[in-house]
Amino acid sequence: MNKAVRIVDIFRQESTFQGTDVMVHGWVRTRRDSKAGVSFVELNDGSCLKNLQVVLERDRPETATLADRLTTGSAVQIRGILIPSPGKGQSIELLARDIVLFGWADPARYPLQKKRHSFEFLRTIGHLRPRTNTLGAVARIRNRLSFAIHTFFQQEGFFYIHTPIITTSDCEGAGEVFRVTTLDPTRAGPALDEGVFQEDFFQKPTFLTVSGQLQAEIYALALGKVYTFGPTFRAENSNTSRHLAEFWMIEPEMAFADLNDDLALAQRLMHFVVSDLLETASDDLQFFARFVEPSLLDSLETVAQQPFEVITYSEAVDLLKKADEAFAFPVEWGADLQSEHERYLTEKKFRKPVAVIDFPRDLKPFYMRVNDDGKTVAAMDVLVPRVGEIIGGSQREERREVLLEQMRRKGISPEAYAWYVELREFGSAPHCGFGLGLERLVQFVTGLGNIREVIPFPRTPGHADF
Ligand code: 4AD
Ligand code: MG
Repeated sequence: MNKAVRIVDIFRQESTFQGTDVMVHGWVRTRRDSKAGVSFVELNDGSCLKNLQVVLERDRPETATLADRLTTGSAVQIRGILIPSPGKGQSIELLARDIVLFGWADPARYPLQKKRHSFEFLRTIGHLRPRTNTLGAVARIRNRLSFAIHTFFQQEGFFYIHTPIITTSDCEGAGEVFRVTTLDPTRAGPALDEGVFQEDFFQKPTFLTVSGQLQAEIYALALGKVYTFGPTFRAENSNTSRHLAEFWMIEPEMAFADLNDDLALAQRLMHFVVSDLLETASDDLQFFARFVEPSLLDSLETVAQQPFEVITYSEAVDLLKKADEAFAFPVEWGADLQSEHERYLTEKKFRKPVAVIDFPRDLKPFYMRVNDDGKTVAAMDVLVPRVGEIIGGSQREERREVLLEQMRRKGISPEAYAWYVELREFGSAPHCGFGLGLERLVQFVTGLGNIREVIPFPRTPGHADF
């Protein structure tokens, strides 16, 4: 069974395969029966967007009966010879000689018939939706992006480290954490004070991580350059097209580096992964350009080549105030930039990625380095067209006293983060890093408007299916 060739390999080396005997596996996308006694099957094995055309002679009663059973969604094994195709739309086709039908799909019940289905509907059939062109292409693109991200960091001398999924810290300090406990919520217990956790698995409150950054800092201050790439959890009750409760984040962290190095790294990373995708995934990208976002390839070329526009938060506020736009949220120095503001800057004002730096310290978490003005921190948010914020990062506060003052201001107990403070006592060094959301990146490169379509099994408020 394992001698089958992947359809993508046939298309990549058509001339080598011409005239040879092959075996393929896959799922029937469609079948058309001609009056001349031939059936044409479009076979897809998930290895690429394109289907392989399979030609079946219905010359005997048995072959005609079998051909009739090859309904949309059926799983088959087909042996045959690859021949030049006389038909339009493909240059090679498989003349079938031997067919095994592994699993028939009842056309009365199989939901993926040949027509366009809404993304909302496809979400309800998460067990079947990867067999669609869109979700298949997303899965291949996620795979390639992940590979390119690892390749990039490995080439740049970063070490891949594994930070914990169960943590006791709330890195972003936003309180949007999922609690991890083995306590039985249905059992009436003592009030939720510290005492109750004595009976809990870890004997203290624990959560799913919202970011691996704090632990990555530990390793950066030992190995120099490190990165994490793992699942991240946020109990944000925001039902938007850009937020998930479970998403994947890439977090590089480097010692002996400042915000300028951080910006340069983010820019090199974006250039690398987008260029790699343009080179290796052109069929899937063209599919998205055709059916989802007509400007897609142009905007990817821009990101692959152009430097980011870098502006300070204060400059951004000035530009937004002067903009001839009716924003729903007012723009004031000290207020957070809303999605509409981010999109104005990157889509209308600059038409390319924009890095906004030096945010007011009160808007950002405790770990960001305080600038000399005392009012802002060395933060950076990278904004891209159609998505808005794709990267958030900063230079970290490496000065113990300033860090303690930041913690006081934000009501964070230095005792709870004693190890983090201690890193500023033993060989502290300037360091920085950022987080890139994988799903936001996939949204950007596919043009898909809703983040629920770019992860296999989306988790959002009220939804944890499959
Ligand atoms: O800006 P954020 O919250 O930054 C951090 O977590 C830092 N600790 C990262 C660091 O410096 N190491 O998140 C970083 C990125 C965002 O820019 C966005 O791309 C993505 O993570 N992100 C989300 N993606 C999907 N759903 C959510 N709920 C997300 N929250 C953040
Ligand atoms: Mg952010």
